Amino acid sequence: TERPVVFSGMQPSSDSLHLGNYLGALVNWVALQDTVDPIYCVVDLHAITVAQDPAKLRESSRRTAAQYLAAGIDPERSTLFVQSQVPAHAELAWVLGTITGFGEAGRMTQFKDKSQRYGAESTTVGLFTYPVLMAADILLYETNLVPVGDDQRQHLELTRDLAGRFNSRYGETFVIPEAYIPETSARIYDLQDPSAKMSKSAASEAGLVRLLDDPKITAKKIKSAVTDAEREVRYDRQAKPGISNLLDIYAAASGEPIETIAARYEGRGYGDLKKELAELVVERLEPFRTRTFELLDDPAELDRLLAIGAEKASERAERVLAQVYERVGF
Ligand code: ADP
Ligand code: NA
Repeated sequence: TERPVVFSGMQPSSDSLHLGNYLGALVNWVALQDTVDPIYCVVDLHAITVAQDPAKLRESSRRTAAQYLAAGIDPERSTLFVQSQVPAHAELAWVLGTITGFGEAGRMTQFKDKSQRYGAESTTVGLFTYPVLMAADILLYETNLVPVGDDQRQHLELTRDLAGRFNSRYGETFVIPEAYIPETSARIYDLQDPSAKMSKSAASEAGLVRLLDDPKITAKKIKSAVTDAEREVRYDRQAKPGISNLLDIYAAASGEPIETIAARYEGRGYGDLKKELAELVVERLEPFRTRTFELLDDPAELDRLLAIGAEKASERAERVLAQVYERVGF
């Protein structure tokens, strides 16, 4: 029996992915390799919907791919590649754009939010059609399942609508993908503002644990995390968001249940929890950091792995694109 196809991607990130990306996404991506047919993409075409420095973007894409590999993405079991190396993404996006309603695209709340934030000057047509490119990413691989957070749910709905519309207009072509919520999906919050999710666009650097940071900095950030005026280590998202976040990180990094961890710190102060969590995270990230830097020190090897990935991806994507072209009359 065939394994379900899972598509997921991240934008190339300036220097380093963060602990939320790692515990919330990469760990799941790695685990999925045992049961699905995974397609993992560094979505650099999406990245240029916001102005980028070209040399930096190129470097960021490599660093992001290196981090996928270092986290345990196996290029044999997964299809790991950089989006711009597979031209079919842009080609299918064009076709899908021609069956997307202008008003339909205009209803995407992420576009509305981003265009508000960036202002008229920086709001490009590319930003507007971003979800159409995302639909192409997914549909090119006959994807069955797409891990999505709340922010991408509307885009996946659009993808499903476009797939269905194309199929009814031109004949069965696309697999209609479904949203997939991993059983173990940790959501990590900012260490300084536990009401906000940990994000590369965080307000303060202190709340963001970057995976490739020096371990001393990582430890310091965790030990300086905001908590509350009580002293009791207890999981309570509402009343104790800081401590709860630390317990979530602890659970995700150790694989232990929250209750076990909370029980261990009963009657002990927050200091012990933070210190031991800092040690745990640093230890957990150590092999990841080492492997990432090894890969970055060996550009030929990284290029080789990415070329293999792009070739695997292209083969599959070209097959679907050829059918689409045939259907539309090319
Ligand atoms: P960012 O919010 O830093 O811009 P992205 O939106 O690029 O991160 O997310 C890339 C992946 O990492 C997605 O799969 C997303 O769900 C996951 N992710 C990002 N931030 C977190 C977080 N704080 N907790 C859990 N998962 C996260
Ligand atoms: Na984001």
